[in-house]
Amino acid sequence: MARAAIFEGSRGVAVASGAGRPPVAEARGYWRAAFRRVRAETESRAAHLSAEDQIIQSMPDASPTKWHRAHVTWFFEQFLLVPHDPAYKIFDERFPYLFNSYYVAAGPRYARPQRGLITRPNGEDVTQYRVHVDAAVERLIDDVPEADAARVFEILEIGLNHEQQHQELLLTDILHAFAQNPTDPVYDAAWRMPPAASGPRGFVDVPAGIHAVGHEGATFCFDNETPRHDALIPKMRIARHLVTNAEWLRFVEAGGYATPSLWLSDGWSAVQAEGWEAPGYWRRKDGQWQVMTLAGLKPVDPAQPVLHVSYYEAEAFARFAGKHLPSEQEWEVAARAGLLADGDGVAWQWTRSAYLPYPGYRAAEGALGEYNGKFMVSQMVLRGSSLATPEGHERVSYRNFFYPPARWQFSGVRLAEFA
Ligand SMILES: [Fe+2]
Repeated sequence: MARAAIFEGSRGVAVASGAGRPPVAEARGYWRAAFRRVRAETESRAAHLSAEDQIIQSMPDASPTKWHRAHVTWFFEQFLLVPHDPAYKIFDERFPYLFNSYYVAAGPRYARPQRGLITRPNGEDVTQYRVHVDAAVERLIDDVPEADAARVFEILEIGLNHEQQHQELLLTDILHAFAQNPTDPVYDAAWRMPPAASGPRGFVDVPAGIHAVGHEGATFCFDNETPRHDALIPKMRIARHLVTNAEWLRFVEAGGYATPSLWLSDGWSAVQAEGWEAPGYWRRKDGQWQVMTLAGLKPVDPAQPVLHVSYYEAEAFARFAGKHLPSEQEWEVAARAGLLADGDGVAWQWTRSAYLPYPGYRAAEGALGEYNGKFMVSQMVLRGSSLATPEGHERVSYRNFFYPPARWQFSGVRLAEFA
């Protein structure tokens, strides 16, 4: 599982040991602040939404906001409080069944595609659940015996990183729901795309040869980023910038979505089955392309990076452009070398790498071992981070993964070419 020490947070910031203060006391203060910060971010993202908004589930892959708020809370209850606080009382014995996601070892769970059918417990009940668990976690942070502190803070850190992942999903899932609504709801009128990355466009050489990839050091990472290992990088070049809407429009206008020879077989099947003719959330209105965003329906900005494309579309676009998608190892080596102008904070970038275990990877024993390892089949790796990724959650070794047809995430494209 993830590796952590009591002084190392998810930002990789070591907490300095203050003179005369016992280290564990400082760690308690550090983790209390980190816990409050992450829990508050979830609520501030949900605060833009009404009670009705928070119960909708627009497709099986997306979950209601209320469910996200409860599920991340269940995670702390199930994996931190129940095993490590003998005095802890489960808030409601019905909740684990409702809010367990996929942890088979943690017990039975309600069907994922039907999460939107659950109007009760209502939003206020979930708020009370959060308050109950918040208080218990803070008590545990304060009172855990020193001998158990390292393990408790390690699980706490996994829980915080888990909640940050759901903070991103909260936004992608509500955007998908709002995109089904003919009134084009606005999540946040003040939301803006991140500023465009500067610097010359074009392709740059990635240093060829054998490079170490994977997480380095003792700061937090998910287990799928390890073991660190050597990878052979061929002579190749990578785009400094993400593919833009203007470039994508040329693909659309050249008939890219109607040209089977550009597509993988499964991709072409998806184009036909789904009726794709542009990226997700694009609509043609009065001869202009518009796109559903967190700030509502907006004109497609040619200068901005394209978002909401599937792996199939990314792969077809690369073929159209006479290029390739980078492998995840090529992406990581390029990012570590500082070659990417917009490597993070805008769009997750599809790679041509299947989501597989790194050499020597073993999932941890027990329910938490289900976090990543059991999903290592049939999905593709995305690198970087997106505009919806919470601050401090991104890492150069981070491996996101989705099925090839998925396009409700903030997923974009970076091209590569071989020398
Ligand atoms: Fe989860």
